Amino acid sequence: MKTKDIRALFLEYFASKGHKVYDSMPLVPDDASLLFTNAGMVQFKDIFTGKIPIPTPNIATSSQLCIRAGGKHNDLENVGYTARHHTLFEMLGNFSFGAYFKENAIAYAWEFVTKILGFDKSVLYVTIHESDDEAYNIWCKHINPSRISRMGDKDNFWQMGDTGPCGPCSEIFVDQGEEFFNGEEDYFGGDGDRFLEIWNLVFMQYERDKEGNLKPLPKPSIDTGMGLERVVALLEGKHNNFDTSLFSPLMQKIEKITGEKYYRDDEIHKNTPNATQASFRVIADHARAVAFLLAQGVNFDKEGRGYVLRRILRRAVRHGYLLGLRKAFLYEVIGAVCESMGTHYSYLIERKNAIMEQCKAEEERFFETIESGMSLFNAELASMQNNHEKSFKGEVAFKLYDTYGFPLDLTQDMLREVGFSVDLKSFEACMQEQKSRSKAHWKGSGDSLKEGDFNALLSEFGENSFIGYTHTQAHSTLLALLDSHFTRVESLQNGQEGYVLLDSTPFYPESGGPVGDKGILKIDSNVVAQVLDTQKYFGLNLSKIQALGILKTKDKIIAEVDSSRFEIAKHHSATHLLHLALRKILGNHITQAGSLVEENRLRFDFSHPKALTQEELEAIQTLVNAQILNQNPQVCENMEIAEAKAKGAMALFGEKYGNNVRVITFGDSIELCGGIHVQNTAEIGSFYIVRESSVSSGVRRIEAVCGAAAYQYGKNALDSIRILKDTLKNQDIIQGVAKLQNALKEAKEQANKAKQNIKSLDYEEINSTKLIVLKLDSVEAKEAKEIIDKTKNENEKVAILLITQTNGKVAITAGIKGVESLLKAGVWVKEVAQILGGNGGGRDDFATAGGKDTSKITQALDLAKEIARKNLG
Ligand code: ALA
Repeated sequence: MKTKDIRALFLEYFASKGHKVYDSMPLVPDDASLLFTNAGMVQFKDIFTGKIPIPTPNIATSSQLCIRAGGKHNDLENVGYTARHHTLFEMLGNFSFGAYFKENAIAYAWEFVTKILGFDKSVLYVTIHESDDEAYNIWCKHINPSRISRMGDKDNFWQMGDTGPCGPCSEIFVDQGEEFFNGEEDYFGGDGDRFLEIWNLVFMQYERDKEGNLKPLPKPSIDTGMGLERVVALLEGKHNNFDTSLFSPLMQKIEKITGEKYYRDDEIHKNTPNATQASFRVIADHARAVAFLLAQGVNFDKEGRGYVLRRILRRAVRHGYLLGLRKAFLYEVIGAVCESMGTHYSYLIERKNAIMEQCKAEEERFFETIESGMSLFNAELASMQNNHEKSFKGEVAFKLYDTYGFPLDLTQDMLREVGFSVDLKSFEACMQEQKSRSKAHWKGSGDSLKEGDFNALLSEFGENSFIGYTHTQAHSTLLALLDSHFTRVESLQNGQEGYVLLDSTPFYPESGGPVGDKGILKIDSNVVAQVLDTQKYFGLNLSKIQALGILKTKDKIIAEVDSSRFEIAKHHSATHLLHLALRKILGNHITQAGSLVEENRLRFDFSHPKALTQEELEAIQTLVNAQILNQNPQVCENMEIAEAKAKGAMALFGEKYGNNVRVITFGDSIELCGGIHVQNTAEIGSFYIVRESSVSSGVRRIEAVCGAAAYQYGKNALDSIRILKDTLKNQDIIQGVAKLQNALKEAKEQANKAKQNIKSLDYEEINSTKLIVLKLDSVEAKEAKEIIDKTKNENEKVAILLITQTNGKVAITAGIKGVESLLKAGVWVKEVAQILGGNGGGRDDFATAGGKDTSKITQALDLAKEIARKNLG
């Protein structure tokens, strides 16, 4: 059975039992408390907790891509060294939202494992939570009680994260037989590999809050998870997930790149170094995680999810380094991931080239520093060994991190291999010091707010309603007031800043690209507050205000949205048109990597491997303007996500959409979007691309303007042209500038020629002193001085006098070196200047003078030579 078949068998089995089949949700959940989607239930967590209504049907199934790296369920450091840990894996699951509970969950699992997958009952065992008699009694109907083990919280209580849905669980194990497993821990319930857990049935009953308290869920529910990779391994008779057909294309690719051989566990030979096998496994595993994260729009970053992605890549690169690779290679393995997994996840094929480029650029960056980092690491290790120290200096780990880009867990990984660890205290101290140094650059504000901070407001008022799609004004009640630190207050005084919670609000909260609405609050006809911004805080739509009068809870107010909203809407709609134009001109690999939409500009980031050409930019701009001129009306519909996808709606990765989605259409542009838009593209006016640039490896940025800002942009451009025309005395400006450029070029050439002349200037030698007397055209007095300085630098004994002429004025500049006692520059220029009707003087070694009578220049030159010859001779 191939993977695809197992995945399909699972989903078909549960569909036949009435479950709705859901697609794998994005790896980045819309939940700040969770780093990545780490289980099949994440997609449904708000249904479990009652935050969103139970859908119909109330049972579901999915095959969910999960990442367990960083965060609560972090397997990163185990990957490569165990038979079944992965950063990215697929979890098959079935879910019940208050429909069936333990009885059916167990019956389904049992039927699927024994009948559909065909496991013999003689190899199956189960565990239950030690307190769960109900599960025990149900299992006794299927399996001999001697095969049921009661376990404590550590093994049989599952929770999504530190907070969120959780409950006791029951796990199904397969005995892989004693022939390969005869370690001390290979008994049922031990830590050995012989008894392999394949399926976890969680009896979701509680939600854990920030304080750690368990609160019962509205309805007891079911969440299950079966790891696809390990089931494939069992069915293929392999004892290690990496030895299955799922990974073999990747192992072959790595063999080709490294010239090394990958040995499966059943081929392992006593001479085969295990380290090589582990490195193969790390690279294969991490290539899958990097490929999916990049394809889903996560970018390498210095913090957050992008930093976990970077850590995964760097760990893989280091293992490539261990296999002898010294240049980027992972991108090729990623290409193999796209090919082998792209049949099920077609976006991998669409974005293959772009993500390979992105990966390659990032790898190359690390390869620049890895060598030096490894030397530093090895030197420190050697010194530790000499001094019999056990702990690696935190300062060095920090230097590896800060200067050479070695994430802390990479250094820890390298040390674990030799039995050492990092002194975390001193590492943290260095980190803190750096943080306080850069504190000045922090954004501060509400960044560190947590969901729990708003629980009181949420339970008192629930989520407030947004009526801004249809209204820009609303009669509303002030439900709650918060001061600038988000603390509840009863009133805000004139001048104070704070936040308001309105029962129904017309203010659109910042979301995705568009910034939040501004506006005013009035009581009767008096303006009592300026609305500075609007944001969503864990479901609450709060507007930031500055009070201009006294505001009290329960006040009846009139909320008015600022007219800047219309300009924001224009830029937002233009972003949709731009997104489509980019796909049409550059290809379907374009994925949005971020956007900002303001009243006077928009910024759109997208994955694309190279800078756009002028022709591409023009084609994109033309296409967007054609859509504007086409006067496409806005069509806004709510529909099932499946229907939206069938229509070809563009959805963003990293955004979680409910079952029912809002779809915005303008002509061919169809996007899932909750934002505010123009009614007709004609309102956008016109669209200009202002700049194209790079954001990070493989990610480009377009900045553009439309609406009033586009008019201003066009006007500024025309104003500049007018001023230029005036300066050029009304010439055709293109010709005028070309003329100027020519003139400049000529002038430069002349100046260069003059400088060249100096090099080869005629000179005479008098008693080993070089005498140079010359007239130079197109040379300023300043340049004459430079020439003199240079000549003096290059000669031991020299007397040089230059006559230059600019704007009808004559300048005489002279320099003397080594023979000042015979000829003084000051006297020399003075005498020459007299013939030219001028005057001047200066030091013995350098002097300048001016003159007027240009007709006497030849005579002046002759005189200069004569004086010099006399004095030097
Ligand atoms: N959510 C459960 C798990 O991940 C099924 O194991």
